Parts: sequence; structure tokens; C-alpha cells
Amino acid sequence: MWDADIYNRYNKERIQSSVDLVSRIGHKKFDRILDAGCGTGMSTASIYAVWKESKIIGADLSEEMLQKARAALPSVTFVQRDCSKPFSDMGNFDLIFSNAFIQWLPNQEDFFNNSFAMLNDGGIFAAQIPLFGEMPANQCLIDTEKKFAGKLKNIDESKFVLHSAVEYYEMLSKRTDKISIWITDYVHEMEDHSKIVDFLSGTALRPHFEILNESERKCFLDELLKNIAKTYPIQSNGKVLFPFKRLFLIGEKSIK
Ligand SMILES: C[S@@+](CC[C@H](N)C(=O)[O-])C[C@H]1O[C@@H](n2cnc3c(N)ncnc32)[C@H](O)[C@@H]1O
Repeated sequence: MWDADIYNRYNKERIQSSVDLVSRIGHKKFDRILDAGCGTGMSTASIYAVWKESKIIGADLSEEMLQKARAALPSVTFVQRDCSKPFSDMGNFDLIFSNAFIQWLPNQEDFFNNSFAMLNDGGIFAAQIPLFGEMPANQCLIDTEKKFAGKLKNIDESKFVLHSAVEYYEMLSKRTDKISIWITDYVHEMEDHSKIVDFLSGTALRPHFEILNESERKCFLDELLKNIAKTYPIQSNGKVLFPFKRLFLIGEKSIK
């Protein structure tokens, strides 16, 4: 279950990557655009800001997230569906966009396949994927999980699947040689350590919340907070800097 309110609490921090990805695609003309894993519509809003004239479809598995998306962007079509499966029934697209989505798929190579199958010639595949595995917060989470190993023994099955930037490059370069790839560290200025835990509650901790009961959840969050506090220093103004590493991929489907 996704909690759309917790997710949207950090909209300022979460939206910038889709704005940046859109700006790097440039001012091309697209007839049909898919925003896969559109969530509450934050990424879709970045697309809509530039391509209002296009037919934009936002697709997501979570009805709760989609409700927010529909309310935010009434003129966009939002559909509930599992984007880990082929989407040939949706027709072809000129841009397949995904922001902070691919990491939730168990078999991510399939999504690259399915997307390139449905792109028109010259169409664009554009994705932003968090490199959470390279962030100190991931080690804090792993250390915390160890303390709850009995309860969380199957947690890896529902956590997001982390690949390296090079592995993602390989997935894309099998399908096109027109590639842009870059990494940005977004340095979020947090009021205190608890805000980092709160930020993670909207995404990375979602699988843990599904397994732990309320009191276990509280103990888990306290332990994670301790680990986060040991890892991220407090600045002289009292704030805590939380660098968040994100990978960007743009690939153009060759014209045959
Ligand atoms: C971190 S959110 C990103 C939302 C949005 N793209 C944004 O930039 O704010 C990830 C989204 O992926 C969706 N998701 C996860 N697995 C999915 C699947 N198999 N099919 C469709 N959506 C999925 C979740 O429901 C969630 O809304």
C-alpha cells in the first residue's frame, strides 16, 4: 500500500528530478506520452507543463496514488495497471517517461523491452532511477533490518531492486546507441534527522510498514533514526544535509 499523503509531503524534494529530466528531453513534439508509475501525478505535472497538446496517459498500480493524480490534473488520462507487464494494448508512444518507478519492478529488463516495443521510431525512453544502494541511508536501513531479522526475513522480496548505473546503461545500450546518461546528487536540506526518516517512510520503508505492526514499526523507526543520526552530521545552522543520488537515462529508438 502506498500512502499518497506521506509521499506528497516531500513534493519539493521529489519533483525536481522529473522537471530536470523533462528539460533534458528538449522541446520535441510528441503525440502520445506514457508516464509509467505516475504515482500522485507529480511527474505527470512536469510532463504536462511542457507537452499540454500531447495525449498524456499516466499509469500506476496504486488506486490511492491515482486518486491524487486525477484530482491534480483533471485533463490527463490516468489508468490503473501493472506496468511490469507488456502494455501493447495501450498503443504506441512517442515518449515513455518514468520517474522513480523502475526500481519497484522485480524484472526491470522486461520494462526496457516492453517500452522499446511500444515506442514509435525516433521515440524517447526517459527514466530517473534513485541510486539508493550507493547512499549511506541504505546502510542505515540494512543495519536496522538486521535488528528485526526475524520479522523481516522475507523483506528483500518486496523491497525495491537496486542495480548500479552501469547495469542500467547495459539495459539501455542493448536497445539503442543514442543515449544520454548522468547522475545528480540532490542535496536536500532537512530540518532534522527525523525528516530523513519521514522522507523514507513515503517510499523505501513502505515494504517494512506492510510487515510490522504498530509497536514494531515504532521500534523500527526509532532504531533507524539512531542510525541516520550517527551517519548524517548536523550543520552549524542546525540543519541536516541529505544528499540523494539519482540516475538519469534518455534513449532514442532508432529510425529503421
Ligand atoms: C516513488 S513513486 C513515483 C511516482 C511518480 N512517478 C513521481 O515522480 O512522483 C513509485 C510509483 O510506482 C508505482 N508502481 C510500483 N510498482 C508498479 C507497477 N508494477 N505498475 C505500475 N505502477 C507501479 C507505485 O504505485 C508508485 O506510485
